[in-house]
Amino acid sequence: MRFARAVNVADLRLAARRRLPRAVFDYIDGGADAEWTLRENSRAFDDVMFRPRSAVATKSCDLRTTVLGDSIELPFFLAPVGSCRMFYPRGEEVAARAAGEAGTIYTLSTLSGCAVRDVKAATRGPLWYQLYVIGGRDVALAAIERAKNCGCSALVVTIDTPVAGMRERDLRNGVKELVSGAPFTMFPYLFQFLARPRWLAAYLRDGGLMKFPNIVLNDGPMPYADVGAALEQAMVCWDDFKWIREAWQGPIVAKGVHTADDARRAIDHGAAAVVVSNHGGRQLDGVAATLRVLPEVIAAVNGQVEVLLDSGIRRGSDVVKALCLGARAVLIGRAYAYGLGAAGGAGVTRAIDILRADIVRTMKLLGCSSVRDLDRSFVDAPSEWLR
Ligand SMILES: Cc1cc2nc3c(=O)[nH]c(=O)nc-3n(C[C@H](O)[C@H](O)[C@H](O)COP(=O)(O)O)c2cc1C
Repeated sequence: MRFARAVNVADLRLAARRRLPRAVFDYIDGGADAEWTLRENSRAFDDVMFRPRSAVATKSCDLRTTVLGDSIELPFFLAPVGSCRMFYPRGEEVAARAAGEAGTIYTLSTLSGCAVRDVKAATRGPLWYQLYVIGGRDVALAAIERAKNCGCSALVVTIDTPVAGMRERDLRNGVKELVSGAPFTMFPYLFQFLARPRWLAAYLRDGGLMKFPNIVLNDGPMPYADVGAALEQAMVCWDDFKWIREAWQGPIVAKGVHTADDARRAIDHGAAAVVVSNHGGRQLDGVAATLRVLPEVIAAVNGQVEVLLDSGIRRGSDVVKALCLGARAVLIGRAYAYGLGAAGGAGVTRAIDILRADIVRTMKLLGCSSVRDLDRSFVDAPSEWLR
């Protein structure tokens, strides 16, 4: 499947699988444990049915919205995805450029291969920065300062990662061994890279195994190492929101809210928005699909902060369903990561174009001309979700 002929995100996934070595593709594609939540995230969209209004002339559709004061052309934007530079040379920069050209936000992960200032220079759209407290508080404070100085407009604090989830595919593919740097340990797993010469040549031209330029330790940027071990030292708790807020002094987004209680806690600790997210099924397997808990969070928040959602979005109709159930906008993760892995910036643009066209078509079929007019009257959702 060539990416340019991709009709939907599933086609982009196949194109990424063809270009990427197995360890890299599975890092994007996989989830935690039995991958139940990963599957459930997407399946839950099937539980919501549309209630269209026929014979409504919707010649054009307005997809514009605002999120924390940033005006965007689309009701979706790009989620933080770590290690994009492994998927494609200068991965974070090319993805951010594609987002900016489409008029939407790019969120840069702490665990990126490109420096925040370079990513900011690459995009004409808004840039958000996602924070992991890897390396300790002083290292995080320096990162916050850099993000602030180069004009990031919101800080996303990920709260669902006290340890990395159990990604069985990564274990099987030898990810830990591959980043160990020890030739004998790495050797049995190296052949998967030889099977993808096009990717390998591009990866080596881009400098090979990347460092993390946004995590600056005493002796320089953190080398690519066991990310799981690093995350275990980087646990964030609600008390940390105090010093993060004081340092950032701008809007803070709590990413990884699963329940009404945590949404209220996020508000109490000064968040300006929450992302209903289970990390795309990569952390605690067995948690409910995010779409299912969205109504409970919307009710708890009661308009006090903006509510965003991610996890499982693969079609424009998924975006529309989430907006109907009250999300202000959604974040896409794998949907663009597949495009990036398949064809760099052009692949990300293809993913965005597919979703945009889907949304416009879905809204015309629904008889709704603006994303701001989407509400629960356009869908039927299981009654137990809405209780
Ligand atoms: C390969 C990959 C890497 C990710 N890295 C991060 C990260 O560094 N920080 C973070 O907060 N979330 C990270 N996420 C989670 C995404 O931000 C987002 O929550 C998730 O991808 C949404 O689910 P979806 O992929 O089904 O759209 C990552 C997701 C993927 C697929």
